[in-house]
Amino acid sequence: MLMLLALPFFAQRMEAQQVSLRDAFQDKFLIGTAINMWQVRQGGEKMHNLIKKQYSAVVAENCMKAEAVQPIENIFNFKDGDDLIEFAKRNNQVVTGHCLIWHSQTPTWFFTNDKGVQVDRETMIDRMRKHIYTVVGHFKGKVKGWDVVNEAIEQDGSLRRSKFYDIIGEDYIRLAFQFAHEADPDAELYYNDYSMDNPAKREATIRLVRDLKKHGLRIDAIGMQSHLGLDTNLKQYEQSIEAYAKEGVKVMATELEVSVLPWPTDQQTAEISTNFAYQEKLNPFKNGITAEMQTKQDKFMVELFKIYKKHSKDITRITFWGVSDGDSWKNDFPIKGRTDYPLPFGRDLEAKPWVKKIVD
Ligand code: XIL
Repeated sequence: MLMLLALPFFAQRMEAQQVSLRDAFQDKFLIGTAINMWQVRQGGEKMHNLIKKQYSAVVAENCMKAEAVQPIENIFNFKDGDDLIEFAKRNNQVVTGHCLIWHSQTPTWFFTNDKGVQVDRETMIDRMRKHIYTVVGHFKGKVKGWDVVNEAIEQDGSLRRSKFYDIIGEDYIRLAFQFAHEADPDAELYYNDYSMDNPAKREATIRLVRDLKKHGLRIDAIGMQSHLGLDTNLKQYEQSIEAYAKEGVKVMATELEVSVLPWPTDQQTAEISTNFAYQEKLNPFKNGITAEMQTKQDKFMVELFKIYKKHSKDITRITFWGVSDGDSWKNDFPIKGRTDYPLPFGRDLEAKPWVKKIVD
């Protein structure tokens, strides 16, 4: 009796394993995933098969960031990035580079001299040029495009007062795009940020695109990171896609995941330095997600992918920030030690119900 009742459930799981996001969207846009070095070097057969079958694009979750590729001035480390690219090549996947200029995960030497004093504008520009030339130059021909500047805009639409901004001034953004293009004229260049459904950030991003174009600089696409929650306003999110497309640039979701956990304040962000103390009540699904919450996520994802499909002529890539729930950064952000369920595949590497739905 029990066996009979369980049958439809198993049948559904079996079917879910057969579907492929990569194949389903191949005529519309790339389906990407962010991967880490454990997945590249170990990962196991099931993980490797999953990455290959489900994703047509990969991006490095961490190993191409400044702190990883140039931890010490003039000491470059490309081993991880090279291995990642080899891995992607075996899987016939497109690689994009993440990221060149960002206020986070950039070593402090970048901004200071050997006495710990902040450097001047010229030194900072030289360091930026050297970093971009060397990194983009190394991966030339192997990556399709770069997140050139990451997270330069604040929630209110003003430019973030990062060290790059403080030391160089607002033209650091133009300079970064200029250097990236000089280093690899064939690479696509992207501006990437979170909370892109926020109208103030949308407007500021449009100003940024226009400013780059006005100065004759290349910008191919806007990366909407898309660290979403179930309360994300999809109307506003869609309006941003439309607004960017109107500027004549492509649109990508570059770091998509949909958290099912409560955010502790009313201002959500993906600024990685944000953290809150652990509280049991903020970790409601540590022993498994409820059917009710799974249904909510299924509905949300179906709505989201309807939007992507509707705008597929303007969208070039939808990249998830991770492969499966177990490897998502959301288990530790913005609160350490929670159990989140934000990605297409569960901790058992099986597809979520919504994966089958959107493929259909
Ligand atoms: C995150 C990684 O997933 C973590 O492993 C790391 O500890 C911190 O950074 N915006 C970005 C990504 O552009 O690079 C960040 O990735 C998540 C927020």
